[in-house]
Amino acid sequence: MQITWTSSDHTAVHIYPLYQDQAFIYPIREAYRKAGQSVWFRSRSDEDKDVFVVGLGDRGKASLEAIRRAGGLSARNIQKEGFSDACLIREVASNKSNSDVKDCEWLQAWIEGWLLGLYGFHKYRTASQPPKEVTLRIRPEDWPKITDLEIQQVIRTAEIRATGTMLTRDMVNETPDYLHPGRMVEWMVEHFKDTPVKVTIYTGAELEERQMNGLLKVGAGSVHPPAMIELRYEGDASLPLISLVGKGITFDMGGMNVKSGKDISDARMDMGGAAAVAGAMDILVSQRAKVNVVGLIAVAENVPDAHAMLPSSIVSFPNGLTVQAANTDAEGRLVLADSLLHAAALGAEEAVEIATLTGNVGQALGLGIAGIWGDEDMTERLVSIGERNGERLWPMPLMDEYESELHSDYADLSNIGSSSLAGAITAALFIRKFVTEPMKWVHIDMAGTVQYKGDAGFSASGATGYGARLLADYVTSRNEL
Ligand code: BES
Ligand code: MN
Ligand code: ZN
Repeated sequence: MQITWTSSDHTAVHIYPLYQDQAFIYPIREAYRKAGQSVWFRSRSDEDKDVFVVGLGDRGKASLEAIRRAGGLSARNIQKEGFSDACLIREVASNKSNSDVKDCEWLQAWIEGWLLGLYGFHKYRTASQPPKEVTLRIRPEDWPKITDLEIQQVIRTAEIRATGTMLTRDMVNETPDYLHPGRMVEWMVEHFKDTPVKVTIYTGAELEERQMNGLLKVGAGSVHPPAMIELRYEGDASLPLISLVGKGITFDMGGMNVKSGKDISDARMDMGGAAAVAGAMDILVSQRAKVNVVGLIAVAENVPDAHAMLPSSIVSFPNGLTVQAANTDAEGRLVLADSLLHAAALGAEEAVEIATLTGNVGQALGLGIAGIWGDEDMTERLVSIGERNGERLWPMPLMDEYESELHSDYADLSNIGSSSLAGAITAALFIRKFVTEPMKWVHIDMAGTVQYKGDAGFSASGATGYGARLLADYVTSRNEL
């Protein structure tokens, strides 16, 4: 990751981010100034620079996300052309203030987007060379209000946030035969080894002692035993404990209710919530944030086998509830039940629980925005952080009237709703049953936002890294209340 703060400019490319109202060195079509648009102006001699223009749209409406995406789009386009560096140009003379966005925030968003734009998952491509790194130069004279000290901070913060997000992406993109439950455990132990994060793993008898029966039953068909991973970071132990709870199904084959389909590769991304929690913990610890947080990751592989849980089996939980697993493909809520009971047992004041829980959330909201249920204050803050970060969330209702759909003839609850409607809501209602008072709770269903289904322009297709910055920012924002 190369970002340099220097006046000397030997780069072959100049990048001009353009607002709608901004002056430019060449005549240019209005269309190229729109957010998400870009155009090259090629140099006609070796002394000249190639110019890359990226639109930012209306200055008044421009969000940090528009800047981040413009940074990503520029990085990817410049990288694609094989350039090894480029210089960001801000036309100070013509530049009015960047609306409400302060210079430091503007640059941090740009760099964050730049680094995320350059991300690619190249581990398994052996026939082609991975693309080259591209160094970004920023000229101090363009940013007279930013001191050398401030820019160091801006670069460092952007790098930490991008690194955490890319960690989440790497985990989500990984193959399930590599990143199986055992590897996930190893990975966490290894990753947080020399950091202040204390890693505790519960497996086998430890799960049985704690009656984490959701995990035990869901993981029963796999050769890789399930585990509960606890990541404890006490940046300030005097603060109330916040828990981040992630679903970590390393492959969701559906269990005995086996999934079918031509290409079910996406079932490896069913640990997107777990990866978001890991990425958030990475960001928090890299920042040495003054927070008190525990990450809880329920990890299992949901596959059929002679030992796998049979549909209709009863799973009992230590809060006294029994659940009939009518469909073994509704496994996420079972492992999340264990996790939320554990969060309350640890004394967490709040739980932010995040999961690729239902296909239905995509039906309701599409793939650009996740659903959020639960505590109103927490929801409000998460929605506003998400809006700022480009990790969007939409508040969804906990419809008490639908709870009867979770009725079972044999147990206290069924793990699926009786109707075919509102599956994302009934899933949230199910999980609510495992939230112990007085712990506050929100549930985020990120099944739709876990991946870009195609090349997003500003980012490679594949894992989005959704949730890493969102959860980290939520935890640090508690200190500003
Ligand atoms: N992990 C899936 C949800 C999912 C589906 C995530 C598609 C991403 C893309 C979850 O475990 C699941 O299988 N849910 C079922 C629930 C049903 C059996 C009640 C679903 O959504 O169909
Ligand atoms: Mn499933
Ligand atoms: Zn699943």
